[in-house]
Parts: sequence; structure tokens; C-alpha cells
Amino acid sequence: PEAVKPIMNSTVTPVDAAMETVSDGPLFPSTLISPEVISLLPTDYTIRPMRRSDYHRGYLDVLRVLTTVGDITEEAWNQRYDWITSRNDEYYMLVVCDGADRVVGTGSLIVERKFIHSLGMVGHIEDIAVEKNQQGKKLGLRIIQALDFVAAQVGCYKSILDCSEVNEGFYVKCGFKRAGLEMAHYY
Ligand code: ACO
Repeated sequence: PEAVKPIMNSTVTPVDAAMETVSDGPLFPSTLISPEVISLLPTDYTIRPMRRSDYHRGYLDVLRVLTTVGDITEEAWNQRYDWITSRNDEYYMLVVCDGADRVVGTGSLIVERKFIHSLGMVGHIEDIAVEKNQQGKKLGLRIIQALDFVAAQVGCYKSILDCSEVNEGFYVKCGFKRAGLEMAHYY
């Protein structure tokens, strides 16, 4: 059969074109987002699985409150996003958006499959960040509650995280307790 050629309209921007050709669905099933957490968000705010197009909603800027991010092109973002998508029963990354559909908070749960504890699964909570002027609205707490819900739903027996002393109080309010000691080897 004759190959179908894509019809390019001159008013369509490269971003629109990219969104049309590539799936922009949720990174993981939306049913894993706790209905209770959704109901507790400020009016007009949403919490949902990350999407490829979150590059254009300020996702990386939110991460900049946490640490150095670097200049990441859309192409590099897409490559990493596709890699993560191919492991979407392992990477659960979610975002909180404000009423203007801007990303204002994010958090990730990485699920590790073990042999111990009868093939147990451990959740690793990583990269929790809330935009500076949105802090103090319980968005951080909602992100942790949402990740806890995902971890329990997918079958983790515990979730763990590393944080600095300044954030210990926040995680205690989220129900975590100090356990062990972090050690690092930088390369
Ligand atoms: N120390 C003690 N208590 C705190 C702290 C803190 N550093 N931060 C918040 N709390 C308390 C709040 O007062 C609130 O208490 P309340 O229920 O009595 O009112 C409760 O914790 C919940 O606070 P939220 O409003 O949900 O916190 P917020 O939305 O501001 O998010 C966060 C907290 C994520 C730490 C935010 O300040 C942030 O993005 N900081 C910069 C990035 C960062 O350090 N991220 C954590 C890295 S560790 C990791 O990713 C595993």
C-alpha cells in the first residue's frame, strides 16, 4: 500500500507537531493517584502522573529548588522520558499543577525488586520539590501521601528516602522516622 504522508499545516508549531506524533499520556495509570489526596488539594490544583509535555509546564524549574539541573534540551528530555516510560512499572513520577496548569511540585517513587523478604519490593522516594512561592501550602505533604499510596498499591513493604537535617521535620510530619545512616561514594 502507498505510504501515508503526514500533512503539515504551516500554523502548526514544532511543539504541536511533536505532541501530535508522540503519545502524551500519563507515565503510569492515573488510578494509582489517591482520590483522598486529590480531594485535599487547594482549589484548582491537580496531582497526576507526569507527562512528556511537562517539559513545557516548568517541570525542570521546579526541580531547580532542589539542586543543579543543568541546561536540558527538549530532545534530551524526550530521550530520558522515553527511557523512563519503558520502565513504567518501576518509575512513578508525579506532578502537582496550579490553576494555570503550571507544574509547581513534583516527587518520584522508584520501586526496587528484591530477592529478600520473599521477593519484596522497596519504594525509594526521590526528588521532592515544591516551587519556592508555593511552599507551606501542604503540597509537599500531599506529594508524599500520593507516593505512599502508589507504593502501597503496587506492593512495596516500605518506602525509604535520604534527606538533610533541615528537612527531617517535614518528613516526620509526613509519618517517616529516622532509620539508619546515609553513606555516599561520588564518582
Ligand atoms: N522542617 C520542619 N517542618 C517542615 C519543613 C522543614 N524543613 N518543611 C515543612 N515543614 C512542615 C510544615 O510546617 C507543615 O507542618 P504543619 O502540618 O504543622 O503545618 C508540614 O511540614 C507539611 O509542609 P508542606 O506545606 O507540605 O511543605 P512544602 O509544600 O513547603 O514542601 C519541601 C516541603 C518539599 C521540603 C519544600 O520546602 C521544598 O521543595 N524544599 C526544597 C527542596 C527540598 O529540600 N526537597 C526535599 C529533598 S529530600 C528528597 O527529595 C527525598
